[in-house]
Amino acid sequence: MQESTTGGETRRETRLPVEIPTGIEVDYKNLTARQIADLISRSQTGKIPFSLYMHECLYGENGFYAKGKVKFTDEVDFVTYPEMSPAFGATVANYLERAWKKMGKPKQFDLVEMGAGSGEMAKSILDWAQISNIDFYNALKYTVVEYGGGLIRRQIGKLNDHKNVKWIKGSAFELPVGQINGAFVSNELPDAFPVELVTKMGERIVQKYISVRDNEWVEIWDEPTEEVKRYIRENDLVITSGLVEPINMYARDFQAQIDQALNRGIVITFDYGELGQVGSENPVRLYGLGIQGELNQRYLYSHPGLVDITFSVNHKTLLLQGERDGMEKEIFGRQDEVLKEMGFDDVVETALIIEESPRSSKKEKDILMRMMISRDYVVSPDTRIKGIVQSKNL
Ligand SMILES: C[S@@+](CC[C@H](N)C(=O)[O-])C[C@H]1O[C@@H](n2cnc3c(N)ncnc32)[C@H](O)[C@@H]1O
Repeated sequence: MQESTTGGETRRETRLPVEIPTGIEVDYKNLTARQIADLISRSQTGKIPFSLYMHECLYGENGFYAKGKVKFTDEVDFVTYPEMSPAFGATVANYLERAWKKMGKPKQFDLVEMGAGSGEMAKSILDWAQISNIDFYNALKYTVVEYGGGLIRRQIGKLNDHKNVKWIKGSAFELPVGQINGAFVSNELPDAFPVELVTKMGERIVQKYISVRDNEWVEIWDEPTEEVKRYIRENDLVITSGLVEPINMYARDFQAQIDQALNRGIVITFDYGELGQVGSENPVRLYGLGIQGELNQRYLYSHPGLVDITFSVNHKTLLLQGERDGMEKEIFGRQDEVLKEMGFDDVVETALIIEESPRSSKKEKDILMRMMISRDYVVSPDTRIKGIVQSKNL
């Protein structure tokens, strides 16, 4: 930090770049680490933005999602709410059915789920539709957009009872679908999109870059790119010293692409985050390696490509983008509140009636019983996760 005096006023200026060694050596046996080090050595500035580091770790040739290294439920990396109970997917299906009715019960209702994980939410949405309203089920054309090839194989296995599902291998932030009349849904997706990181040093807003010095990972704070500066302005972000703010430009692009692809229908997005800024001292969260709970921050550099990297989402930026694109905000709130508004109580009541009906099959009874036993998980208040429902031409 350097002090300068102009007109009697003392201003603190930070000399850029500021380099912070991580103390972690590049593990050249790790293919992702090697690829990133190579990218850095070939870059003109000798450093890459943090988002590119994260992109390679998750979506690079040997990245965490590309290889489908992520493990769900019984294998541990993490358990998501739709996996805890089929009541989650059933409630989403219930709300989708309402939208289908509002649209005049069209013969085809396109449903695109992005980032389907183990396929559990897709299964419970389809199971519920099949049990509760066969006309709606018959209208459903389900498309899964999934990045990880390994995961697609698992999802196909889980959904083989349902013949109305197809898969597109691709990224939700380069959305590979045409015009949609129906819905887009996702759970815990944009938190995995690569972000830039910014903070304030003295009077200056700075952005994080990654480099290598003497075989050690180094973090570099330097001038933000024009794109990052524009994003900060457009989203009215206040960058403060001591707090690192994730800048999720892919999430904004993802929302914009959905808005463009949606002809008529709704968008349901559940994820960790806030209706506003999500900065903190250390905003990165790491999971994986079969270890339960959050991993130590060192794993970001010691195990690139082997751990999941996530950041909370600023939901306001999604809503702002939606507004710009002419989307209507239907619901925003804590996950349990949103599920209640989507008709969780009706679903539970209907499930009880169907379960007791002598005409229900054994398979239906099994699904419903599992749902009733585990239903309370999904409406237990969890302040970390929010849901957004937006609509167009409904
Ligand atoms: C945290 S998991 C959530 C899985 C599932 N939705 C659930 O709630 O159980 C993230 C999922 O998104 C997928 N994914 C991550 N980035 C993606 C992207 N850019 N496009 C499509 N899928 C992606 C992952 O492969 C994984 O299936």
